[in-house]
Amino acid sequence: MSALKILVIPGSLRTGSHNARLAAAAAHELAQAGAEVTRISLSDFPLPIYDGDLQSKSGVPKHAVNLKRMMSAHHGVLIVTPEYNSSVPPLLKNTIDWVSRVQDPHETRGQVFRNRAFAISAASDNRLGGTRALAALRLILTACHALVVPNQLALSFASEAYDDRDRLKHPADIEALGAMARQLIDISQRLM
Ligand SMILES: Cc1cc2nc3c(=O)[nH]c(=O)nc-3n(C[C@H](O)[C@H](O)[C@H](O)COP(=O)(O)O)c2cc1C
Repeated sequence: MSALKILVIPGSLRTGSHNARLAAAAAHELAQAGAEVTRISLSDFPLPIYDGDLQSKSGVPKHAVNLKRMMSAHHGVLIVTPEYNSSVPPLLKNTIDWVSRVQDPHETRGQVFRNRAFAISAASDNRLGGTRALAALRLILTACHALVVPNQLALSFASEAYDDRDRLKHPADIEALGAMARQLIDISQRLM
């Protein structure tokens, strides 16, 4: 059987991003559990704000097509989202919107979300840890017909959450990350 491939997408471009840091910790956990992990930055897939006129005139931008194809080449996807005003940041929503418009030959539009497992996590420096962004992201992905695994991690007080080896230090966070990684791998394997 070929190796199980998981794509990890942090939803922030910010230097020192809590969510990029959590994505790195999650990628490590997924690799430890046996997955072949690709961790990307959305800075490599810059996209204009979605505009139907732009799509009609020029088609879906090549970065959205490339990202969709990269997702297609993986069995599962983990998205790690910041929380902006109780929801997902525009970078992530806009990226999902464009990817959902991609239609490769012999596929239906948005097919990359169907029959593929997604996991979601968030990090924030407040007590809720991005819980509301997770609810919004789960709704968006479910609307795209993605299979979103039940386990998730909302990392509270993110700047205090790591030890000096950059590993999560609180038992509840370690357990939640591990449970989410195992479930993503398990469900992705069943869909292979
Ligand atoms: C426009 C804006 C709105 C925000 N709203 C929230 C919020 O609703 N909940 C929250 O926990 N943090 C909120 N924050 C703080 C972010 O969680 C914080 O900037 C975080 O560092 C962003 O993620 P990153 O570190 O991965 O870039 C907001 C930040 C910005 C810029």
